[in-house]
Amino acid sequence: MDNSKIKRYTVTAALPYTNGPVHIGHLAGVYLPADTYVRYLRSNKRDVKFICGSDENGVPITLKAKKEGTTPQAIVDKYHKIIGDSFKELGVSFDIYHRTSSLTHHQTASDFFETLYNKGVFTEEVTEQYYDEKAQTFLADRYITGTCPKCGNENAYGDQCENCGSTLNATDLINPKSTLSGEKPVRKETKNWFLPLDQYEDQLRTYIESHKEWRPNVYGQCQSWLNAGLQPRAMTRDLDWGIKVPIKGAEGKVLYVWFDAPIGYISATKELFEYARLGIWNPKAEEYYINQNEVENGNWEQYWKDDETKLVHFIGKDNIVFHCIIFPAMLMAHGDYTLADNVPANEFLNLEGQKISTSKNWAVWLDEYLIEFKDKQDVLRYVLTATAPETKDNDFTWKDFQARNNNELVAILGNFINRVVVLTHKYFGGKVPTCMTITPEDQQVIDDLAAYPAKISASIENYRFREALAEVMNVARLGNKYLAETGPWKVIKTDEDRVRTILNISLQIAATLEILIEPFLPFTADKLQKMLNYGGHLWEDAGKMGLLKRGHELNEPVLLFDKIEDETVQAQIDKLKKSKADNVAATATVEPAKENIQFEQFTAIDIRVATIIAAEKVEKTKKLLKLTLDTGIDQRTVVSGIAEYYKPEEIIGQQVSLVVNLAPREIKGILSQGMILMSEDSDGKLAFVSPVQNHSNGSVIR
Ligand code: 2FM
Ligand code: ZN
Repeated sequence: MDNSKIKRYTVTAALPYTNGPVHIGHLAGVYLPADTYVRYLRSNKRDVKFICGSDENGVPITLKAKKEGTTPQAIVDKYHKIIGDSFKELGVSFDIYHRTSSLTHHQTASDFFETLYNKGVFTEEVTEQYYDEKAQTFLADRYITGTCPKCGNENAYGDQCENCGSTLNATDLINPKSTLSGEKPVRKETKNWFLPLDQYEDQLRTYIESHKEWRPNVYGQCQSWLNAGLQPRAMTRDLDWGIKVPIKGAEGKVLYVWFDAPIGYISATKELFEYARLGIWNPKAEEYYINQNEVENGNWEQYWKDDETKLVHFIGKDNIVFHCIIFPAMLMAHGDYTLADNVPANEFLNLEGQKISTSKNWAVWLDEYLIEFKDKQDVLRYVLTATAPETKDNDFTWKDFQARNNNELVAILGNFINRVVVLTHKYFGGKVPTCMTITPEDQQVIDDLAAYPAKISASIENYRFREALAEVMNVARLGNKYLAETGPWKVIKTDEDRVRTILNISLQIAATLEILIEPFLPFTADKLQKMLNYGGHLWEDAGKMGLLKRGHELNEPVLLFDKIEDETVQAQIDKLKKSKADNVAATATVEPAKENIQFEQFTAIDIRVATIIAAEKVEKTKKLLKLTLDTGIDQRTVVSGIAEYYKPEEIIGQQVSLVVNLAPREIKGILSQGMILMSEDSDGKLAFVSPVQNHSNGSVIR
């Protein structure tokens, strides 16, 4: 979108599911880039609304409630607070953090559906879905488990097998079972309302193709959806938690969570204007940090229905189709709305080389970090931005976290600021000295500094936050290099005026840094502002000389960052190791040594209880005994390789398990009619597998 046409910005960050706290993957993927972008826009005096809230509908919530033995409402209340508080503490500066269980949202989503319904947008389709007769409810895919048709995992879900990663349909599962009642579900017909995405294919293609500037991962994913051909998708579900479908004949159905969730952005904006401006608080909404000063003028519709509004969605890559295909199709169908100008979706962040997993507790949780690393919000913000998975999946490691803190934040940024402020206090009583004669060397530094803000702006405006942050650090490097090359601590002995100039220029670099770091490191910017006793400057001031006037008094120096010790990161690594060990213990399974077989293959083996009634060594062999067994059916001979472990006389009368339908074969000239089951320990020692109590010969083993 042409910058000169932009009057205002609506920036959204994916609404997190309230079925657990947020972790570093969410922060690196969505919330930090979004917050950096918005802070940058504000510093540029742009009119921006930063929208987010809790995604409180859908199956993930009901599953969590079931797991914790409580109600979905209790779950969303709990995590809405945990997530909202954590974001606030990390300095994620939403204008509103709303929630989709609010009245405003229910009404907005309901009205949206009704508008589409009245326009005749939806198609009605009757499909067969699994139904639990005992629980008297249709079953969402996640409520059905069964055997994966691809790998045989017996605990596959109706939508996915976590063992082999296949995407499944519930109807693909072998021996499906309802997790609600444990019963086998039946197929039952149900009517739902479908959004005919296929009818919007051309319009969507035109839209996507007008945005070739989008990140290749986003653009590519959209293209492959379009090329595969879009299918109608159900916008209603048979579920009892969510927003009721507002039409007749839809009792017991709710809106599909991916229909209502993106409308959550709209309802949050509405809430921001309608309620915040009037000072009326929706008692059920419990919004976080609404900036009331900003909503004196304007209305929510300008932020959604005006071509001069730039709409940007920050999301993770698993949300691309919903934001680039389904939501735009909904907005097109409605007709009044503008479409997103960009959807900068990130790839995934891994943790210590492994995929972050909520269920396996392989994650760094934000709420825990904030407790364990008090006042270190910016360290996390820094590391996650410096390693953001913008173009490919990336890895977070605690060692890297430590190294970036110690070698970059402490050694480069913190060190530069500290030296300048300490030296100014030492030589000039904490007052900004006058800039005297400027040398060509000084001029070069002044010119270099002046070039940075535009460069950083370009990176941010193109959603390249890693690159932008690296350039910000280069400003600190420039400052350090300047100090090292001019050496004011040496020059002070001979030329005080020269030191005035050096420190004046260094202080201007520090003041510029305060402006440039703010979108990334707001807490540090705040500390720096206090130290420099200066504030309120905007992006347009960055890079200029004279931000700190001569004679201006600085406050006492404080350290911006502390070193992180080995023990601290080791404790985190140990914590992860422990959660891995706990998880292995909880889910330990014996890895099969052989290919899976079908149940029928197992039942084809006829195993019986039998008693050894005679035993003798097979001549000229070390291992073989010739046994006579009473099988309850007959008496038969079996040759068995147990001579090293059992003497013939010891085993007379021993009950054993015998495969009686094994085809007879000749061993050392003796016809062996069956096989005795033995267990073998890791040293190769053999033992009979026998019924614990005596059973009559011929009893079936299965
Ligand atoms: O993937 C998720 O966590 C979803 N709750 C994101 C929803 S984004 C939006 F559309 F609200
Ligand atoms: Zn599988």
